[in-house]
Amino acid sequence: MRLAVISDIHGNSFALEAVLADIARQAPDQIVNLGDVLASPIAPRETAELLSGRNIVTIRGNHDRWMTTLRVEAQAPVDRFATAQLTDAQHDWLATLPATAVVEDVYLCHATPTSDEAMWLDTLWDGRTTTLPDEDEVTRKADGIVYPVILCGHTHIPRAVRLHDGRQVINPGSVGLQTMHGSPDARYAILDRRDGRWSASFRTVAYDTEAAARAAEANGFPQWREALIGGWATPVGLFG
Ligand SMILES: [Fe+2]
Repeated sequence: MRLAVISDIHGNSFALEAVLADIARQAPDQIVNLGDVLASPIAPRETAELLSGRNIVTIRGNHDRWMTTLRVEAQAPVDRFATAQLTDAQHDWLATLPATAVVEDVYLCHATPTSDEAMWLDTLWDGRTTTLPDEDEVTRKADGIVYPVILCGHTHIPRAVRLHDGRQVINPGSVGLQTMHGSPDARYAILDRRDGRWSASFRTVAYDTEAAARAAEANGFPQWREALIGGWATPVGLFG
């Protein structure tokens, strides 16, 4: 069994297109998507079009929830821009995404099993860098989840952690928005189950970051350029 795990596309159709081409070469049995799909100043509608009609198990992220439950005036500027770009059918699709899902023996959540906003495998310091929290804190958030693999996204930082009882918590990183790890390339993960054991491998995919940055600028969000073309920037201020 082979799973491709994508997360935090953030409406970056340029990154998604490159990642989907790379995934096709990996020939997975199933693709899963951990949310924050369309919140973006880049290309939310085109991103929804790229995903449409594919058999991808998708859950919702905090931005997907905000785009479909908050009044437009209450949304952050990037979410408001993205919401306005969507067709009614795309908006309806986003609104129906579940908070969590299970595929085979793999559990999917956006941030943690009980929150779509909490940090799990990373503590954010001064908006500039992250570190792995201590073991007790990481383990506590997996309480009650009996599956051998727990997938999460949200922090945009790829990590694979194995708990003492053998369960793994895996974050594939972000397809569309790299911050704080010094590379603009799109990220996702491949999971293989052999002899009942899951192994993860992380992939980086180069894509046309300049085109994505230009689209963000043209739509009125120049602060995205530095993150998109460099991957070193802080996430602070990108959505506000
Ligand atoms: Fe998120």
